[in-house]
Amino acid sequence: MSGEKKLRIALIGCGNITSEHLAAFKEVPDAEIVAGCDIASKALALFRERTGLPETAVWTDWKKMLAEVKLDAVDICLPNHLHCAAALDAFAAGLHVFVEKPMALNAAECETMIAAAKQAGKKLAVGFQQEYNPATQLLVNARNNGFFGDLRYAHGLLLRRRGIPDYGVFHRRDCGGGPLMDIAVHLIDVMTYVMDRPEVERVSAVLFYGEGKNPCKVWCGFPNWNTREYDVEDLAAAQIKFRNGAVLQLTTSYVNHIHQDCVYEFDLTGSRGGAHWSPGGVPELFCDQFGAMMNLAPGWMPSQGRPEMFRRKLANFVDACRKGTVLCLPGEAGLYDQQILDAIFASAKAGREVVL
Ligand SMILES: NC(=O)c1ccc[n+]([C@@H]2O[C@H](COP(=O)([O-])OP(=O)(O)OC[C@H]3O[C@@H](n4cnc5c(N)ncnc54)[C@H](O)[C@@H]3O)[C@@H](O)[C@H]2O)c1
Repeated sequence: MSGEKKLRIALIGCGNITSEHLAAFKEVPDAEIVAGCDIASKALALFRERTGLPETAVWTDWKKMLAEVKLDAVDICLPNHLHCAAALDAFAAGLHVFVEKPMALNAAECETMIAAAKQAGKKLAVGFQQEYNPATQLLVNARNNGFFGDLRYAHGLLLRRRGIPDYGVFHRRDCGGGPLMDIAVHLIDVMTYVMDRPEVERVSAVLFYGEGKNPCKVWCGFPNWNTREYDVEDLAAAQIKFRNGAVLQLTTSYVNHIHQDCVYEFDLTGSRGGAHWSPGGVPELFCDQFGAMMNLAPGWMPSQGRPEMFRRKLANFVDACRKGTVLCLPGEAGLYDQQILDAIFASAKAGREVVL
């Protein structure tokens, strides 16, 4: 395509996360949202209100939209179990694909999507965003400068006290819901990114079920989740051992008895230095220097807010499609994360460690 033309993009799935995508695309001059698809009329009405697009620009069947509308790319914001099907249809139509996280239901679906992208000669990007957080970049810079020495151990938490989504299908395992697929996947992604995505050797995990089946009896932000259909884990604890010797432990929950409403953070430690990370906070680095145990923190940080991370992640995709620049999060990154998730589920089901 010509260097001057904007990338013509359609949204597939116009639910909750759409507002952040549309706001971000407004700040990406080379992108133009030209159509949207959703099975819910309310979602389509909101999409039209936000974009100012006419009724002819909204669709309830993505196959029809792909056949009728002149597009360069799609942005898939569907429930997780539909990511793969929509991506394969988009590649068959000769389009680039941005797909929200998690990439798909399992590694086999991710591999099919990567193969389809290659066959179509199109880009496939996955929608994580903490790579675009300056706090994350600081840790990557520290790693690249040898600050940590040999990375030994990472410990991450993404815990909600009572945070089962009361919309969508995040409460259903067959739709790719649950805290592991929905939220811990962010943690796996950002922690392994900072650790340089080492090769996984073995995984062990335990999942706990049942609390979310009980109606909510306490005050909380989202008390009205679907207890009848709820069949995902309440809480999961996992340990991942990498071939380079490092170990990553993580715990995640939708329902759990903890002090705060939500905890989202990780710690990382190596032979020479360590670090603490949280998505909205100032990162801290720890080392021995000048005869003291030093705590280091940046004196100034650029914006870490979601609008900026979303703008950066979508701009990275648009640039890759238009100018052939490198994708920060290609399908292979989504596959790596998904392989860890698959191993976590396999270990919990088998009741023992699984070796990859
Ligand atoms: N990156 C992030 O931080 C972040 C945050 C929230 C959600 N997400 C991801 O975004 C995706 C969507 O999440 P959400 O919160 O917007 O969920 P949602 O339930 O609000 O939106 C999903 C939309 O898809 C529509 N849909 C369902 N089946 C469809 C079909 N066959 N054809 C067309 N439309 C269909 C639904 O009507 C709904 O409007 C998920 O993959 C989720 O994990 C990412």
